[in-house]
Amino acid sequence: MIDMNLIAAVDSKNGIGRDNKLLFHIPEDMKRFRSLTMGAAVVMGGKTMRSLPNQKPLDGRVNIVLTRDKDFSADGFIVCNSVDELFEALKTLKKPIFVIGGGEIYSLLLPYCSSAYITHIDADGRADTFFPDFGTQWRLTSQSEPHEYNGIKYRFSEYKKII
Ligand SMILES: NC(=O)c1ccc[n+]([C@@H]2O[C@H](COP(=O)([O-])OP(=O)(O)OC[C@H]3O[C@@H](n4cnc5c(N)ncnc54)[C@H](OP(=O)(O)O)[C@@H]3O)[C@@H](O)[C@H]2O)c1
Repeated sequence: MIDMNLIAAVDSKNGIGRDNKLLFHIPEDMKRFRSLTMGAAVVMGGKTMRSLPNQKPLDGRVNIVLTRDKDFSADGFIVCNSVDELFEALKTLKKPIFVIGGGEIYSLLLPYCSSAYITHIDADGRADTFFPDFGTQWRLTSQSEPHEYNGIKYRFSEYKKII
């Protein structure tokens, strides 16, 4: 089976976004996201793709978008219309894979992920989109000390799925 990683920033209520935007912009978290995903394949949902600045692909990464829109195509994106198509595309790529959201895509692909990099932000961003329930198979394997930006505390955590 294809092994995937997941990366997300969640608030104190497990929120991840509102009005198709991120809840917080924490420079150190953005930097960490960039360095962890650099050189990898990143898998995102259509809504997250549409939320990217100018809908441009993330540089230095293979960008894969899951969309039901069969007519969609865009420079720099591999377009998949189903999970089966996604798995076909991933089979040919010899790269680490990161699921980068949003909510629907985390829910859909969580069963195929074995590790998760979660930034826990200690604030309520009044989200309308949430990270799914991890279930009972996941264990916290590392957690940073709290960091702070503009009065907002956050921690970097890693989880692994116990098989
Ligand atoms: N905090 C974080 O770490 C983080 C990370 C990423 C995103 N976000 C936030 O999350 C929010 C977006 O999340 P969301 O749940 O609304 O949307 P999403 O997961 O980004 O995308 C959902 C879309 O994915 C496509 N899709 C879903 N299931 C599919 C399937 N089985 N086959 C083919 N395509 C499928 C559809 O695209 P089409 O509509 O194109 O058909 C669907 O509308 C935004 O607020 C964004 O800023 C947060």
